[in-house]
Amino acid sequence: MSKVRVHRSPRVLITGIGSLEALGGEAVKLGASKACLVTDAGIAQSGLSEAAERELADHGIAVDVYDRGMPVPTLEAVADCVAHIEAGGHDLIVAFGGASSSEISKLASVLVGSGTTPLDIAGLDKAPRKRVPLIAVPTTAGTGDEVTAIGEFTAPDEPRRRAVISDHLIPTVAIIDPVLTISCPPGITAAAGMDAFAHNVEAFISVHATLHTDSLTRQGVELIAKSLRTAVFDGEDIEARDNMAIGSVLGGIGYGNAGLGAVHALSYPITARHHVPHGIANALIMPWALEKVMLAGLDYFGQLGVAMGQPMAGLSQREQAQQTVLTMRHLIRDLELPEYLSDVGVPATGVEQLADDAMQHTRLLANAPRRLSRDDIVGIYLRAAVRPE
Ligand SMILES: [Fe+2]
Repeated sequence: MSKVRVHRSPRVLITGIGSLEALGGEAVKLGASKACLVTDAGIAQSGLSEAAERELADHGIAVDVYDRGMPVPTLEAVADCVAHIEAGGHDLIVAFGGASSSEISKLASVLVGSGTTPLDIAGLDKAPRKRVPLIAVPTTAGTGDEVTAIGEFTAPDEPRRRAVISDHLIPTVAIIDPVLTISCPPGITAAAGMDAFAHNVEAFISVHATLHTDSLTRQGVELIAKSLRTAVFDGEDIEARDNMAIGSVLGGIGYGNAGLGAVHALSYPITARHHVPHGIANALIMPWALEKVMLAGLDYFGQLGVAMGQPMAGLSQREQAQQTVLTMRHLIRDLELPEYLSDVGVPATGVEQLADDAMQHTRLLANAPRRLSRDDIVGIYLRAAVRPE
């Protein structure tokens, strides 16, 4: 059956070792004269952004560092950033860092000078246009934020995160230089890497996967399976860091177009209720959610295992899919990440509440190849709850 396929990504995507050197030239092409580099206090203090600031200055562009970025920003935080850019008269935003810089920057790029707030444009396709060009420069390999159309925020008295989803949020240019991820410590590299891995896997198996995304996400799975261990345990291995950076971008483009699924639907409540980092929550849920979901598409689960380098000769489709999930468990174990909810202090008694929360993520659950009932979801959480005797 044919279907129309739409593919969205930044206008310009620059990757590779040393690609940060393209920043100044790209900024000039966008007509910039005064840039606001949005980051967080940790990065600003670490000096990691200095090379980017120098690169812009060398091209005659004035740079002003705004270091109050935060992940899933509050309305006040977004308003503060927008006011700063309006007062400064900046004609370029550079989002430098992880989710703390990219989310607030993507929102600011459509809000500056508009007189509107994220609440006015929350939902799908409500942002009228991009007002200030945005160059995204990630410093971790994980979120894929630098290539997606989603900007999340929190509103007062609302426990759930809200989102603006619009093509206009997609950064104009994304520059992904693995050199910037070298200083990322092992634990964060592992967690962020599992997030990137989950993005590729979920986009690959999504009911909205397309011919545009399949080749990218299969490659993303392959690169991450091959390089995540090295990136975690030998962080200065630049080839492994480069593979992870590309794997993260491919996952971002993958889920930005094909969507996320059951793993994220079940992992978000673990993070929201129990403050488990997002990548770790994904790792905790992934084997058990996929074990259930795989029965709807055994053949493409086998393809995932092949992409992970697992020999499959002589195995039935059922065995191949099972082997894929087992290979994922080995990866998680090798990375020394927690494997069960009890390892991170989430009690089995909380499973019913988590299932209620997960059921709210209807958009994500609809992307999964298998329709999961509430009972299915409770069953997955129970499998994830406690290490068997
Ligand atoms: Fe994620």
